[in-house]
Amino acid sequence: MSYTIQGKHIVLGVTGGIAAYKSVELLRLLVKEGTTVRVIMTENACNFVGPMTFEALSRQRVCRTLFETTDEAAVQHIHWAQEAQAVVIAPATANIIGKLAGGIADDALSTFMLAVTCPVLFCPAMNSDMYASQAVQRNLRILKEFGHVLLEPDAGELACGTTGPGRLPDPPVILNAVQGLFAPKDFAGKNVMVTAGPTREAIDPVRFISNPSSGKMGYAIARAAAHRGAAVTLISGPTALTPPPGVRFVPVTSAADMAAAVLSELDRQQVVIKTAAVADFRPAVVSPLKVKKEQAELTLSLERTQDILKAVGARKRRNQILVGFAAETHDMERSATGKLKSKQLDLIVGNLIGSADAGFCADTNRATFYYKDGTSEKIDLMSKADLAHLLLDRVAGIKTED
Ligand SMILES: Cc1cc2nc3c(=O)[nH]c(=O)nc-3n(C[C@H](O)[C@H](O)[C@H](O)COP(=O)(O)O)c2cc1C
Repeated sequence: MSYTIQGKHIVLGVTGGIAAYKSVELLRLLVKEGTTVRVIMTENACNFVGPMTFEALSRQRVCRTLFETTDEAAVQHIHWAQEAQAVVIAPATANIIGKLAGGIADDALSTFMLAVTCPVLFCPAMNSDMYASQAVQRNLRILKEFGHVLLEPDAGELACGTTGPGRLPDPPVILNAVQGLFAPKDFAGKNVMVTAGPTREAIDPVRFISNPSSGKMGYAIARAAAHRGAAVTLISGPTALTPPPGVRFVPVTSAADMAAAVLSELDRQQVVIKTAAVADFRPAVVSPLKVKKEQAELTLSLERTQDILKAVGARKRRNQILVGFAAETHDMERSATGKLKSKQLDLIVGNLIGSADAGFCADTNRATFYYKDGTSEKIDLMSKADLAHLLLDRVAGIKTED
């Protein structure tokens, strides 16, 4: 079962706010994720952005009115509502929020919305005083009671010149919220800690020892856990990635920083998933000044860093679930199962590195899950986003002693 949005049918509703231009980029991102998007615009939205742009990007006719002349369009608002697997209204004006809270159906979008049965995401965007008004706040409460999801607007400088909440979040943040509509909420109420990325061990102020970990697997797990309702803490070494929206992000640099952050957060967590490629060795002495290249030869003396997984395993409570990752070039099974036992893990994900489509930096991964009871499960090549959800499915199935 895939919880990702690839292949899904999505309807994008665009209403008459200044932020309508951002929904063009949102549409582009949705299409890039492999979704089929149909766009419904209000007549007022067409004053801000032309339907042609949405038509070109979605490769679908944009719906603007209920009363179009072609036969095929006669009851298209009902067909589209039956086919939709998610609806996102971005930007959502005070007007559409009020109309939908009151059940009014006087144009294509509001009529379509009454027939929708799939999950709906509202992205309100308006002047701060409008947003704070009693009417808008009451209407938003009603929409939440209907079971719709609300993405809070960002605070900042608004087009009308005032500063405060009301700005439409950036398109990648809205895309993330759309993705969240498809995930079960089976981690609601759980604290999940994920570690990701490489660490850097300083040689001198301008050089360090590190590894090629991109952080993609850990960030995918953090994002998936947040979509499934968990309160996620992502502790990450330096990567080129943007932390997923809605997770608490703790940036670290060295293995020692990572150990300190992990151990200080540990007791609050129900689930700990350690994907970080933490350096096993660091220079025994760090030069306070840049080592000059004129120096004929440089021999580094290395010492062991703290084994964080082992320290976490030793402190593990009986109601905590601990998941490790083992990236190996050879002898994966022996090494992974050895770690599983010695570090008191519930599950370890073995990764053979060395091929372009799995392991470090790739967007896909191939893995084997090894369980505490001695069983294992071979996982075929899949996207890291799908693998993240599959891992969480398995974690959700692990029984702990409370
Ligand atoms: C320049 C301009 C910008 C506007 N921006 C917003 C906005 O950001 N949010 C909002 O709720 N209404 C905004 N409005 C008001 C809406 O366009 C108006 O309430 C309209 O009736 C909304 O219609 P619709 O919801 O059918 O698209 C704006 C109006 C103008 C003239």
